[in-house]
Amino acid sequence: MKGIILAGGSGTRLYPSTIALCKQLLPIYDKPMIYYPLSVLMLAQIREILLISTPKDTPRFKEIFGNGDWLGIKLDYCIQEKPEGLAQGLSLAESFVQNDEIALILGDNIFYGQGFTPMLESAKDNAQKGFATLFTYRVNEPQHFGVAEIDTEGNVLSLEEKPLEPKSHYIATGLYFYDNQAVEIAKNLAPSPRGEYEITDVNIAYLKMGKLKAQMLGRGFAWLDTGTHDSLIDAGTFVQTIELRQGYKIACLEEIAYHNGWISEAQLLDRVDKLSKSGYGAYLKNLLDSKEPSFRGYYR
Ligand code: G1P
Repeated sequence: MKGIILAGGSGTRLYPSTIALCKQLLPIYDKPMIYYPLSVLMLAQIREILLISTPKDTPRFKEIFGNGDWLGIKLDYCIQEKPEGLAQGLSLAESFVQNDEIALILGDNIFYGQGFTPMLESAKDNAQKGFATLFTYRVNEPQHFGVAEIDTEGNVLSLEEKPLEPKSHYIATGLYFYDNQAVEIAKNLAPSPRGEYEITDVNIAYLKMGKLKAQMLGRGFAWLDTGTHDSLIDAGTFVQTIELRQGYKIACLEEIAYHNGWISEAQLLDRVDKLSKSGYGAYLKNLLDSKEPSFRGYYR
């Protein structure tokens, strides 16, 4: 399975903060926003990842991640010249995806909750069987999102992008697992009335084929997006609260890579050296030094 992170967009809702750099590079507490969605793909055991961004920002992502070697992953980059919608990311990724299944995640989405990894595994499984999987979540103001009507058995009955009169409070978060057909579906879409290739239209195509599943992220789960100044602060405060309370980091990429067995102790030490003046570097050092089972990758 291949992973795709969409980190483009014009970011105008966050002006002036995003005039010079895209929002996915802004910090959420102690690390760039892009770390959070990348951590999700890594938790799903996906090692071949394509990052799609703007001409201006792509070099900055390369500066952070390079080819992904230090995380034990293979990172490729693709430029989206104009922000013409999320589904365009699938068409742009065609040569990268080849015949594989796909996990697509939006670069501004944060997922946090116990039991997430098994959900990712089951979505991967669905993709292998020809199904698409949405991760749905209850929000108070569904009209800002893709809204799913779901029956008591968890079947999706309808999907609508930012409806004025939402049929439910359940929305599709920015994480999607697809079989290989998604690329062809995306390539054949017509632009929506707002002139974009909508990811919701890809999902509606799966719904019409009877091949769409919904994985509900329940009450104990946190899904945060970061499209406004307030939601940016909320997300930062959330991460700060959990990290300070527990002493575990959320979306620490080196920790995931190390526990997945993708990087060696020597590679982790390199990062400790590089980041030694920050709390993040101290955390990595503790991963190497601590005898505590949880820091050795247990109790996950
Ligand atoms: C996009 C999708 C929407 C989804 C949301 C999740 O909206 O179009 O269906 O619910 O991401 O973050 P956007 O945030 O690009 O407006």
